[in-house]
Amino acid sequence: MAKAAVLGYGVVGSGTVELFYKNAEAIRKRTGQKDLDIKYILDIREFPDSPYKDKFTKNFDDILNDDEVSIVAEVMGGVHPAYDFVKAALEKGKSCVTSNKEMVAQKGAELLKIAKEHNCNFMFEASTGGAIPIIRPLHQCLAANDITAVAGILNGTTNFILTKMFSENMAFDDALALAQKLGYAEKNPAADVEGLDACRKICILSSLIYGKHVYPDYIHTEGITAITKADVEYAEVWGGKVKLIGSVKKCANGKILPMVRPAFVCNDMQLSNISDVFNGITVYGDGFDEVMFYGRGAGKLPTASAVLGDVIDCARLSGTSVSQTWEDSENADFIEDYKNDTVAMYVRTSGADKAQIEKLFGNVEYLVKDNAPEGEIAFITPELVEKDFDEKLSALNGEVLGKIRVLNLR
Ligand code: HSE
Repeated sequence: MAKAAVLGYGVVGSGTVELFYKNAEAIRKRTGQKDLDIKYILDIREFPDSPYKDKFTKNFDDILNDDEVSIVAEVMGGVHPAYDFVKAALEKGKSCVTSNKEMVAQKGAELLKIAKEHNCNFMFEASTGGAIPIIRPLHQCLAANDITAVAGILNGTTNFILTKMFSENMAFDDALALAQKLGYAEKNPAADVEGLDACRKICILSSLIYGKHVYPDYIHTEGITAITKADVEYAEVWGGKVKLIGSVKKCANGKILPMVRPAFVCNDMQLSNISDVFNGITVYGDGFDEVMFYGRGAGKLPTASAVLGDVIDCARLSGTSVSQTWEDSENADFIEDYKNDTVAMYVRTSGADKAQIEKLFGNVEYLVKDNAPEGEIAFITPELVEKDFDEKLSALNGEVLGKIRVLNLR
C-alpha cells in the first residue's frame, strides 16, 4: 500500500497534484503499485473549491501518524518548518522527496544520514534544474567517472531576465516582474537575482559529486544586479553573452572551487545558447569528456515532473535505502579561494587611458560598440590570477564601471 502526502499547495505543490492525477494510471503502472494515491495535502490555507478539497489538512501530525503514508513530497520551500517535517517523517521511516534546494543545501547531509538510519530514501531531483534529470545521472549513470567540473545556468529567473535584456531590450525590473508573473521566481526574488538560488544548487551538485557537504557560505556568490545593458552589448561585440553561471571544478591541489557569478560565455560554448527560463548544465568527467543537460529549470509542471519522478522511485524502492549520501563537513578547508583562480576579465571603465591599461594588463582586447559614452573604454584582459588582477585594477586611473569574468573551467 503506497499513499503519498504533499506538503504545500503553492505553485509546485498544485502542479504535483495536477500532474499526478493527469497521469495517475501510467504512474501506478510504472511503480507497480495499483493503489498509489495522494492521501493528504498539507496547507494552512482553505481550498473549498478544489476538486481535492477532501485531502487537505492543516495538521502535519495527520500525515506523520498515518501508517498508510509511506511517501512525503515536501514542496513548501524554506528551511523551517519544511526541515522539521521532513526529519520527523524520515525518522518514522517514510521516504521523502523535495524540490527545496534551500533545505537540501543547508541540511542535506543530516537528512540523508537519517534516511539511511531508517531504511528509507531522501530524494531531491527537483531541487536542481527543475525538470532536468541531473541528480540521478550524477549519482548513477556517471558515477564511474572522476567528475572534473560542472558548470550550469541553474536559475531560470535570471536567465529569463538576461535573455530579455539581450534580445528584447527589456529593462531589468520589467523582465523580473514578468518572471514573477510566470511563476519562475522565488518568493523573495532577491534569492534569484543575487545568486543565492544558484548557489544552493551548486552546493547540492558539489556535495553530491565530491562527497562532502558544501554549505552556501563556503561559496563565493555574485548575482546579476550590477549587470547593465552596456555590459550585455559589449558581450555581444566580443562574441558571447552574459550568463549567471554556477560552477564547481576540481583543482590541481585536490581542493574544489565552487562559485556563482555572472560570466561572459563565448558563443562557441553551448551554455551561451540557453535562453529564457531554460537551464543548461555541462558536466566534465574523465570517461565521457563532456555531457550536457538542458530543459525547463523552473515553473509549476516542470518541477512537478521531477518531484513525481522521485515519488515513483520511492514507491518502487520501498523498503530499501538507495539514495545517495555524502559526509557532513565542519569547515571549508577543502574549498579553494576563488582569488587564486586564473581568469580573463572584461572591464568597462570611464576616464582611463589605453597606455596605462596596456602597461598594467599587457595585450588586452578592446571592445568597441556604437553609442558608447565619451571616455568609456571596455576591454578583455589576458588570463591572470584573480588577486593579481585586483591589484592591477586598483592601480588603474579612471572609474571602473563594470567587471565580469570570462567563463573558464580549467
Ligand atoms: N527561482 C528558481 C529559478 C526556481 O528561477 O530557477 C527553480 O528553482
